[in-house]
Amino acid sequence: MRVLGIETSCDETGVALVDSQQGLLAHQLYSQIKLHAPYGGVVPELASRDHIRKLLPLIEQVLTQAELGAQDIHGIVYTAGPGLMGALLVGAMMAKSLAFAWHLPCLGVHHLEGHLLAPMLEAQPLAYPFLALLVSGGHTLLVDVQSLGHYRILGETLDDAAGEAFDKTAKLLGLPYPGGPALAALAAQGRPDRFRFPRPLLDRPNLDFSFSGLKTAVLHAVRGQPAELAAQDRADIARAFEEAVVETLVVKSRRAWQTIQAQRMVVVGGVGANRRLRDALRQAGEADQVAVHYPRLEFCTDNGAMIAYAGLQRLLAQDRREYPVRARWPLEELLPPGE
Ligand code: KG4
Ligand code: ZN
Repeated sequence: MRVLGIETSCDETGVALVDSQQGLLAHQLYSQIKLHAPYGGVVPELASRDHIRKLLPLIEQVLTQAELGAQDIHGIVYTAGPGLMGALLVGAMMAKSLAFAWHLPCLGVHHLEGHLLAPMLEAQPLAYPFLALLVSGGHTLLVDVQSLGHYRILGETLDDAAGEAFDKTAKLLGLPYPGGPALAALAAQGRPDRFRFPRPLLDRPNLDFSFSGLKTAVLHAVRGQPAELAAQDRADIARAFEEAVVETLVVKSRRAWQTIQAQRMVVVGGVGANRRLRDALRQAGEADQVAVHYPRLEFCTDNGAMIAYAGLQRLLAQDRREYPVRARWPLEELLPPGE
């Protein structure tokens, strides 16, 4: 079975073709980062318009790249949520129109299921069960992934997502959008012991996170300095912030794999690109004999391939449910196929 997947939940237009036998055949990704950068964040209306502009050309590119036509495709899948409503509707309408014209089944996919299954796109797919740490601009979750559709949330953020905390702190430090990579680069110049920020909820036994207090602590540190922050001050603050987030994520991940006795863990979502987080998790994993995996960087962040893959698995499992487009869609509400 061959499936065309469409992702338009936020500011990336992603399109991919996945085959049940041969795996990923082709994929294209267009990032709207430059469009939103002057506003310091994603502008929903502009995002929808840009998805409309880019989606058809990307679909054509993917088909050309794979040297396939409509007659070679057996299903179309798209991100139905969670995400920006207008942006999601662009992808859903395109998918439904093509499926109608080409007489194909069409299925809505949960964006987070796409992220959780991204490691399956590798040449050596990860074996179930595994622990997943999903850290993006919109989500921070620890999930026990048993099999397709069987997900147990072990912990999640009570306020800001980890990526959101990176982005907001970067803004405070006058860094350009998106702040995560810029803040990480600045932190590399910072000294480790100059500032120390709180590790939120680390003293609690549960696996939940909270990052909004950390942002406030950074604000106080910034205000405590002379009006014009020196370059070294900014770097030192960035370093202390990054260390606080990384330590929190590592300690909770470790507790999670000990709790469910996981042997494998995967890190997905944009913050998974963070070097310090990767190094710290690898070290913790080595100490506890847990293998820590990362999908290829391009499949760590939003992309069409993970949606195509997740949708393909559900179509193969005969999932023919109607998943309405939803801005909010808790992962707990997603059922396994056939239940
Ligand atoms: O998964 P993603 O591309 O989009 C969604 O939010 O769904 O994640 C983007 C987030 C942003 O908040 C960005 O600042 C953060 O990931 N990010 C990073 C790094 N690269 C991207 N955060 C910390 N360090 C990085 N190197
Ligand atoms: Zn995402």
